[in-house]
Amino acid sequence: MKTLSLQDQQKLEVARAIVARIEPGQRIGVGTGSTVNAALDQLAIRCKEENLQLEVVATSHQSAWKCLELGLKVLPADSVKDIDWCFDGADQYDSKLRLIKGLGGALYKEKIVATLSKFFVVIVSEDKFISQLGAGCPVPVEAAPEKRFEVEKQLCSLGATRTELRMIEMNKRSFVYFTESGNIIIDAEFSDIENTLEDRINEISGVLENGLFLTQADEILVAESGGVRSIHR
Ligand code: 5RP
Repeated sequence: MKTLSLQDQQKLEVARAIVARIEPGQRIGVGTGSTVNAALDQLAIRCKEENLQLEVVATSHQSAWKCLELGLKVLPADSVKDIDWCFDGADQYDSKLRLIKGLGGALYKEKIVATLSKFFVVIVSEDKFISQLGAGCPVPVEAAPEKRFEVEKQLCSLGATRTELRMIEMNKRSFVYFTESGNIIIDAEFSDIENTLEDRINEISGVLENGLFLTQADEILVAESGGVRSIHR
């Protein structure tokens, strides 16, 4: 049997912990990424053992498809007024529960679902903690393709030290990455992330959303060597 890396082992532990919280009849928001995928694999086990009836609001087609395969009812985010609670991963978090998300490209729907949710739990392995948010991780900014250069210029005027159009590699070729909404992502590096930055980036003409989640997380469940720890705001 394949041995799991420490990070994968921790993803599995936090996945088990979050899935144990799900109660029948709830409407839950489901994020995107490998930690969420691990949770959906655990949810599959519960769905097999119990006839679990849930309503799910997914943050990407990938997560929605996985939930549909489990026989769960998947609702579009624009059809619901609220969500009992949601869980999602993160690329970085700091001691004030501020997050960077969106390296997986699903930040727009992730923010909608987090905002609609009465309680937002972030599930992470311990390597996602950073004392200086943004160190070694860009802030993903989803923007209209025709506004690319203008948005990059405005990001620099907000303090970005570097901006880069996100590309993907396939069959040794490089392609522009497009989101589910048909937009580009500009990854912007900042050495200092002030609390006003999330809103200021969204005020730039042509920006749909950005990957800073500075106030949304209510709780972070982090898998550490000693077990799963809960951090509350
Ligand atoms: C996707 C995200 C993910 O939550 C984030 O990238 C973490 O992913 P993973 O659990 O694979 O580390 O924001 O847009």
